[in-house]
Amino acid sequence: MGEVLSRFRSPEAAASIANALPMPILLLGSQQEITYVNPAAEQFFDTGAAILLKQFINDLLPFDSPLFQLINQARERNSSAAERNVDLSTARHGERIADVTVTPLPEPEGTLVITLQERSLAQRMDRQMMSRGAVRSMHGMAAVLAHEIKNPLAGIRGAAQLIEETLAPEEREMTQLIVAESDRIRGLIDRMESFGDTRRFLRHPVNIHEVLDRVRKVAQSSFARGITIAEQFDPSLPPVAGDRDQLIQVFMNLVRNAADALPDSGGEITLTTGYRPGVKFGAPVAGERLSLPLEVTVRDNGSGVPTDLMPYIFDPFVTTKVRGSGLGLALVAKIIGDHGGVIECDSVPRRTIFRVLLPKSAGEQA
Ligand SMILES: Nc1ncnc2c1ncn2[C@@H]1O[C@H](COP(=O)(O)OP(=O)(O)OP(=O)(O)O)[C@@H](O)[C@H]1O
Ligand SMILES: [Mg+2]
Repeated sequence: MGEVLSRFRSPEAAASIANALPMPILLLGSQQEITYVNPAAEQFFDTGAAILLKQFINDLLPFDSPLFQLINQARERNSSAAERNVDLSTARHGERIADVTVTPLPEPEGTLVITLQERSLAQRMDRQMMSRGAVRSMHGMAAVLAHEIKNPLAGIRGAAQLIEETLAPEEREMTQLIVAESDRIRGLIDRMESFGDTRRFLRHPVNIHEVLDRVRKVAQSSFARGITIAEQFDPSLPPVAGDRDQLIQVFMNLVRNAADALPDSGGEITLTTGYRPGVKFGAPVAGERLSLPLEVTVRDNGSGVPTDLMPYIFDPFVTTKVRGSGLGLALVAKIIGDHGGVIECDSVPRRTIFRVLLPKSAGEQA
């Protein structure tokens, strides 16, 4: 440790780096006692440093945890041991998967440094960055398309209407088709243009339950007529800081996708909300810690997202539907990103969940 620390002007510098890192870091002594935890590790184990520093690693994880094999391996070979997708599930914290490294330090003798990189966190961040990138590349394209297509399209539509006036009513089917399809393309381009909309929106405290109720009512009176939409709401949910209309658009898109995926009978959509003040993770910027305690999910028991499509569903133009634009989820990801939240999807046939995590409205204490 001394050698490592000597690269810094002060030992505090080393500690402050560990403190700032978003991944949980622990030091273990030769008796498996915990000798250091950074704030991310406190959060990961949902326990303060004062208590953790009185514990042994065996107190935190079940005796058959695969982490112990890594620890033994690192001690035996006196070299770093790493493994991806290690199961760190506990009764207390539920299911958790992390990439783990265990590295011996030269001193104090027998010290190991353990780093954890929670899997779902890494995946959430990837997904978020990916859809943001895709959306950014659409800004320019949307502007060009809007300009190059909308104007000639208006001309085509107008010409069809003029021709229509000269036709007998029974011959108007084709011109009506031209008008209807022109309107559809125009609608598509309008939706693309909304990606280019980089205006900062004003955030107000929004009651998500009111948003979801509204979405459910509209859905059930139109595309989801006859489909059961159940609600499991957490009454303690505080307001989210956001734009009500945009949030309605988000959940309308998710519910519409769910409805599209349902079988002809026995289909069900469930909307849930939950308040999880413990859910925090390191933001990709400047060590700032992100708290996304509001969880809203849209679940359906439909066909499920095809596995090969899964990595791309938030990309624009990805669709399996004959008349789909593939913009629904791209827009959802953009709006959730603008709200400082993340969205992720888990899907197997008969159980597809879109999970949206959002920050609470400013002024509300976590
Ligand atoms: N709940 C779901 N169940 C199964 N597949 C889904 C679900 N939600 C989305 N998908 C898949 O993801 C694709 C992309 O969805 P997205 O909403 O972006 O576009 P779309 O619904 O096809 O078209 P649009 O929303 O523009 O009408 C869908 O075509 C579908 O294959
Ligand atoms: Mg859609």
